[in-house]
Parts: sequence; structure tokens; C-alpha cells
Amino acid sequence: MTPLRRGEPLTWEGRRTHVPGIIINGAQWGDEGKGKVTDRLGDRVDFCVRYSGGNNAGHTIVVNGERYALHLLPSGTLNEGCRPVLGNGVVIDLDVLFTEIDDLAARGVDTSGLMISANAHIIAEYHKTIDKVTERFLGKAKIGTTGRGVGPAYSDKVNRIGIRIQDLFDESILRRKVEAALEQKNHLLVKVYNRRALEADEIADHLLSYADRIRPHVVDTSIVLNEALDQGKVVLFEGAQAHHLDVDHGTYPYVTSSNPVAAGACVGSGVGPTRVDRIVGVAKAYTTRVGEGPFPTELNDERGEKLRNDGGEFGTTTGRPRRCGWFDPLVVEAAARVSGFTDIFLTKLDTLTGWEKIPICVGYDVNGERFDKLPYSQTAFHHAKPIYEEVEGWTEDISGARQFSDFPATTQAYVKRLEELIGTRISGIGVGPGREQTVMINDLL
Ligand code: GDP
Ligand code: IMO
Ligand code: MG
Repeated sequence: MTPLRRGEPLTWEGRRTHVPGIIINGAQWGDEGKGKVTDRLGDRVDFCVRYSGGNNAGHTIVVNGERYALHLLPSGTLNEGCRPVLGNGVVIDLDVLFTEIDDLAARGVDTSGLMISANAHIIAEYHKTIDKVTERFLGKAKIGTTGRGVGPAYSDKVNRIGIRIQDLFDESILRRKVEAALEQKNHLLVKVYNRRALEADEIADHLLSYADRIRPHVVDTSIVLNEALDQGKVVLFEGAQAHHLDVDHGTYPYVTSSNPVAAGACVGSGVGPTRVDRIVGVAKAYTTRVGEGPFPTELNDERGEKLRNDGGEFGTTTGRPRRCGWFDPLVVEAAARVSGFTDIFLTKLDTLTGWEKIPICVGYDVNGERFDKLPYSQTAFHHAKPIYEEVEGWTEDISGARQFSDFPATTQAYVKRLEELIGTRISGIGVGPGREQTVMINDLL
């Protein structure tokens, strides 16, 4: 049998089977511009699926100068003709879901085509309370969560005491599940955290009040997505969070509680790995992080401040200033390796305009030992000192560039050097927040 080349349609029992699944993945610590990249591809996409996380995400999209910040709904919601889907791997705060739907409706965006997995879990009031009190209790050891109840909701899921969307349609089961979940949690809240106990009935009534409104959206998303793929429709899986926030592969414990990596797209939406053809890692041309945890190339001085101001690096979800530092190819290489990126989309290159020299991390020094890949030891990573090389910067405004050849030679050299160090081709470059402010090198669809 002749081996398949990447991008070539599969042949199976004489039938040509197109494989049009594409995953968009964060390659650093989040906020890389996944929303913009998803939106940019959106007019060629039939289904846009969120597969992990909840409203801890904040994806900003700018269309015709209008800014949208989506927390729970997939970015494809803004593309006419694209069906938005919340897969089974997502955790859903119903208050947030319907506020987001109503806010979009007020701006003329139709969300009636939204599909929601019956198996997605619900973030209830007690998850949010526990998220906040746990962080307070941890004090200096806190994770710096978004406080949206995401971690506690996933804990309940794994603990088999979670509440799923389908439970909204069976009142007695839902009431029993809320009571069971609260039995433990009220002990914790009252005895450990010195908070008042929560009323099971009140919480169940509130959740049930959404049952009729959500019912038309609820389907078996695995069936819908697999049938769509069978018909050659394009399905885009939009990652939230990022590789280094992954509970298995990230900087544990300073991570989120789900699997944002590419493999999570299959688990979190009910499609097999063979249905995915392209995996695009989104990486910022420098590095940012929100919340606690190690970050070797972080700049705690006026240079970090300049990156933050030039890039508008303030959280979409919590408004917190993002920690900023130089590009770290070791961080992105780890993501490319674990998720099997076929391409990288480099964003916010325009933000780097105006630096005379730009340092790029080429390795770490950990107590005298050199590392060319991320050390497996978290202690070593905490102590990693970046080893830099410097390349020439540029002063020209690059926000109007639409082809690679529009860039000054030094900008081209910066991109080429990053590509070399990561070992994955850079196929798209962002030069501004707008949909059209993009330089495509290789087609992604
Ligand atoms: P996400 O969570 O990965 O979707 O990223 P966020 O939306 O949280 O943060 C990315 C920010 O950068 C948003 O404000 C985007 O509008 C903006 N952005 C995305 N791509 C570019 C780019 O290429 N250049 C500039 N200047 N801004 C960009
Ligand atoms: P998008 O999709 C950046 C971070 C939080 C915290 C850690 C755990 O916009 O890239 P959680 O509330 O998930 O339990 O918090 O993860 N975090 C993000 N940082 N972008 C995100 O999403 C994030 N989602 C969670 O700041 O450090
Ligand atoms: Mg974000």
C-alpha cells in the first residue's frame, strides 16, 4: 500500500473518504489568539466545536471593527452558516450560557443553531463558591484560577457526582443528584471554610428553570459531528486554554482541570482521531501567562510592561494583567510534539514592532545543566534560567502586511528562526486583531 501523504484523502474500500476535521490548539499558556484564528477560518467551516473548559476561556474576535468576547460559545458562532457546538467535554454554567446568547442576540447574532451535548456537565452555584473559597484557603499557594467553578465541576465529574445537561430533563434524578452533591459539600463549606450551607432545593429549582429553554439545543453531538464528517463537511474543534494549562501535560498544579491538548478534542466531542486531518497550534510571537506558575522567560521589568501595553495584555475573562515575556520555543515545541501540530499560526507579530533587538530563548540553564527541551521535573522548570540569542528587530508598521514578502527582512528572519527552533512550519501570521489582518503562508483548509 502506498503511504498516505499529509492532507491526502483516505481511500477505504474503494470509497474516497475526505477527512476534513481540523483542531485549533493553544501552544502556550492561553490567550494566544485562538478565537481570531478560528474566526478567520470560519467562513469555510460548517461546524465549530468547543471540546473542553468552560467560561474560564475568553476569546476575543474583531469583525469589521466590532469587538466580541466569547467565553463559552465557540468563536464560529459569529460566522454565518457555521453551526456552533458545545461538546461533552465542556462544563456549562447555564447563567453564563444564556447571558451570552442574549447578549449576542441583542447585537444581531443568531444562535438558534447551537447544539449542546447531553453529556456535558453543569457548573452549579456550589462549584463557583468552592472555587473561590479554596483559592482563598490556599493563600500563597493559590493557583490563580478564574473563579468560574471550572475545577470543582470537573472534580465532581471525575468523582462521579457531577450533574449533566440531560439531568435537566428528569426532575427527580436532578434533585437527587444535587442533594447528594451538596451532602458532602455543605460539610466542607460549613466545617472547613466557615461558610453557610447551600439549599439543595434552591439550586435544583434554578437549574430546572432552564430546562425548557435548553431542550431544543440538546443532541447527541457525537452522532451529529460524525455524520457531518461522513458528508465531507468541515468540522473545526476550537481549543480553549492551552497545552501548558493541560491537567496532564501542563505545569501541574498550575493548570486548568481539563485536557486542552489536541487529543482532548476527540474525547471531548466524540469523534475518533482518524477524523482529524490538521492540527494547528496557535502561538503568540512572545509569551504571556495569567495566574500563578512557572514561566522562565517572564520579564518582571519595564520590558514586560512594554509588551503588556503594546499587546493590550489584560485578561479577557478576569481583566487581570497578563504576565509577559519573550518567545520560548521550548514551550511551543512541547505542545507541537504532544499534540502533533501540522502547522503553527503565529499571532501578534505586530506587537513586537519597535524593539531594536529581540531575544529568543534557545535553552535553559538549570543549576549549571543545559536543557534543550522542557525538563520533566517541575522543580527544574521552576529554576530554569533562559539562555537567549538575540536577533535584529524592526521599526516598520507591519499591520498592513498581507504576504510574507511584505515583511521587512528582519521580521522574516525572526519568523524563520522561530520555525527552525520549534521544528513545525509556520503557516499563518497575525498582524492585528482584525479578521483580515493575517498573512497566510500555507492554506489550512
Ligand atoms: P484566545 O483566548 O486564545 O482566543 O485569545 P484572547 O482573545 O484571550 O487574546 C488575544 C488578544 O489578541 C485578543 O484581544 C485579540 O483580539 C488579539 N489578537 C489576536 N491576534 C492578533 C494579532 O495578530 N495582532 C494583534 N495586535 N492582536 C491580536
Ligand atoms: P483562553 O481559552 C489564560 C488559567 C487561569 C489559572 C488556571 C486555572 O482564553 O486561552 P481555571 O479557572 O481554569 O481553574 O484556572 O488556568 N486559565 C487561563 N489562562 N487563558 C485561558 O483561556 C485560561 N483559562 C484558564 O488563569 O491560572
Ligand atoms: Mg483568552
